[in-house]
Amino acid sequence: MQLTPEEQDMYDGKYGIAVEKSMEILVALGDIYGAEKMVDITSAQIAGVSYKTIGDAGLEYLEELASTGVKVRVPSTLNPAGIDLVKWKDLNFPADFADKQLKIIEAYSRMGISTTCTCTPYLVGNVPALGSHIAWSESSAVAYANSVLGARTNREGGPGALAAAICGKTAEYGYHLDKNRKANYIFELETQLKGTEYGALGYLVGRIVGDGVPYFKLKNTPLINELKSLGAALASSGAVALYHVENVTPEYNDALKGVDIGGIEKIVVDKDQIIESHQKLSTTTRKPDLICVGCPHASLDEIEAIADKVTGRKLSTPLWICTSISVKAESDRMGYTKTIEDAGGKVVSDTCMVVSPIEDLGFKVVGVDSAKAANYVPSMCGLDVIYDELENLIEK
Ligand code: F3S
Repeated sequence: MQLTPEEQDMYDGKYGIAVEKSMEILVALGDIYGAEKMVDITSAQIAGVSYKTIGDAGLEYLEELASTGVKVRVPSTLNPAGIDLVKWKDLNFPADFADKQLKIIEAYSRMGISTTCTCTPYLVGNVPALGSHIAWSESSAVAYANSVLGARTNREGGPGALAAAICGKTAEYGYHLDKNRKANYIFELETQLKGTEYGALGYLVGRIVGDGVPYFKLKNTPLINELKSLGAALASSGAVALYHVENVTPEYNDALKGVDIGGIEKIVVDKDQIIESHQKLSTTTRKPDLICVGCPHASLDEIEAIADKVTGRKLSTPLWICTSISVKAESDRMGYTKTIEDAGGKVVSDTCMVVSPIEDLGFKVVGVDSAKAANYVPSMCGLDVIYDELENLIEK
């Protein structure tokens, strides 16, 4: 790779050991993927936050890095942690787990990283501009940033995103380059979609395309929250980092330019395929003993819609709505949190049903309205899931 004089100094250790090691990671990634140079990034989003996923080895690595005094060079936020950092006791998370988790957050904080722990950083101020280069690692956020915002990021691993944050740079390969942002599949929908059908579509298509770039011709125009769900599902059943929706997403016009359309696979999706995909996402027909929504983390309007649904009701099943601390603060101010709490639900911040140890809290069946959560809860938590609209989950 061609390094600028400053990058070479970083690599040679003139900015300290943490920057040196970080630049080594970026150069190694660049070499593996054939990058010719680095690009400056405008933000980072760092995975590898939950103690459930990184364990003691991860905590030790982060504390060692933080002890060097290194600070990140670009605005950076964290992925969800394993607990609600404020209300973890109320939610019965184990104290020893919480202790380790808080130490992880403290280490990141010492490096100048915002301790807003969310997979929807684009809802809380980490909003990259069209065409800007970023280093994000949460797969659903990567899909959203590339596809809906038109920013440019690969699916970074946690250490790669942290190294990029520390250097303010990343290696220029993959989705940073125009040529890799072209579509290589076209999906034409024969049916209109609503609600959890977007997740069912994403689950179906992700399994077909793997790490490809699908181009959708939809029958109706998706809302922003529906694009969030679609991207999360695509990124979890496959490894999709970028998709295009005709007449909707910002790069759809360029997605097929210069592409040999005859050589692209075109797939028609009908209602029956959506229904079948939807059904596959449930592992049981039993009643949920926890309903958990907000995957990816809920937006304020999603919380408002839930508050409307539960106003004046008494829920028979515990309900958690996962979101960021910032959106929760807005929800508190708007009175939505109180409405939900009055019905017996909880607005949970900083964490989610996949990266928290819900399997240790006695739950057996989790009701979700997210295809990503339905895909991961069985493998990450060992619990059964029911995939359905929130309204139906509440009624079960
Ligand atoms: Fe976010 Fe957790 Fe879902 S990190 S995308 S809420 S699995």
